[in-house]
Amino acid sequence: MSAHENQAGPFLKWAGGKSQLLAQYDPFFPREPMRGYFEPFVGSGAVFFHLRGRGLFSTYYLSETNEELLNCYRAVRDHVDELIARLREHQARHSRDYYYAIRNLDRNSAWIHASLVERAARLIYLNKTCYNGLWRVNRRGHFNVPMGRYKNPEIVNEARLRAASRALQGVHLAVEDFEQVIRRAGRGDFVYLDPPYIPLSETANFTSYTQDEFGEYEHRKLALVFAELDRKGCRVMLSNSDTPLTRELYRNFRIETVSARRAINSASTRRGAISEVVVLNY
Ligand SMILES: C[S@@+](CC[C@H](N)C(=O)[O-])C[C@H]1O[C@@H](n2cnc3c(N)ncnc32)[C@H](O)[C@@H]1O
Repeated sequence: MSAHENQAGPFLKWAGGKSQLLAQYDPFFPREPMRGYFEPFVGSGAVFFHLRGRGLFSTYYLSETNEELLNCYRAVRDHVDELIARLREHQARHSRDYYYAIRNLDRNSAWIHASLVERAARLIYLNKTCYNGLWRVNRRGHFNVPMGRYKNPEIVNEARLRAASRALQGVHLAVEDFEQVIRRAGRGDFVYLDPPYIPLSETANFTSYTQDEFGEYEHRKLALVFAELDRKGCRVMLSNSDTPLTRELYRNFRIETVSARRAINSASTRRGAISEVVVLNY
């Protein structure tokens, strides 16, 4: 096992994943010990895994609204051996027909009785083999991404899963809306907010990760949550696209820009480096 593999990092590909921005974010991260770490839009957890190794926080709270994703974190934390074994079976059987059979399991009413590990293995398997690692469900909650074109997808990376499992020991996990963070976080806590981004142009749609939309109303509510956390004495950091709405909502706070390459972007003309913002209350 290489030193790199021993280090914890995201075990999923996720829309809006922050791995590529960590170096630019680093100057903004806390340097001294703090109380809790809160990440209420956890996604693939790039920032969490990056900061976890530093041991600056006494407690970690990861949450988000995608229940399948949160369950997957629970399985990695609590049942990593079983999960790896199940993923090896998926790896051995992977084919086009197998992909669609696994993808369509959620169309079957018996799927609600599937175990935590079974669901988590399905999510990881689909994430590694579907088009662009996209997680998209239709209005009925059915995963509907076609198979990706990978010659030899890496379905199980044991070292990475084990490192993630170690990093997740003792971490609090919850399926909940970002607004709940106000009830939990207080003075001396650090909160990192990474919502689905405000679209760059009016023609681009707000992203839909789950059945629930995240539109202008949610962004306005999030700005109120940011201000409330600030009032409570939390240190707050937020990522978003650089749009007039972002700058209006956070005009009372410090706004820094970073430069990002977007991997998952519907408008191919927008691939390449674009400027994004980081909002800070410190
Ligand atoms: C931009 S992604 C976060 C990416 C993450 N920072 C990473 O590095 O992978 C936003 C996440 O917020 C979640 N989400 C969407 N609406 C939410 C809500 N109302 N409350 C909490 N989480 C939500 C989505 O499921 C998605 O995983």
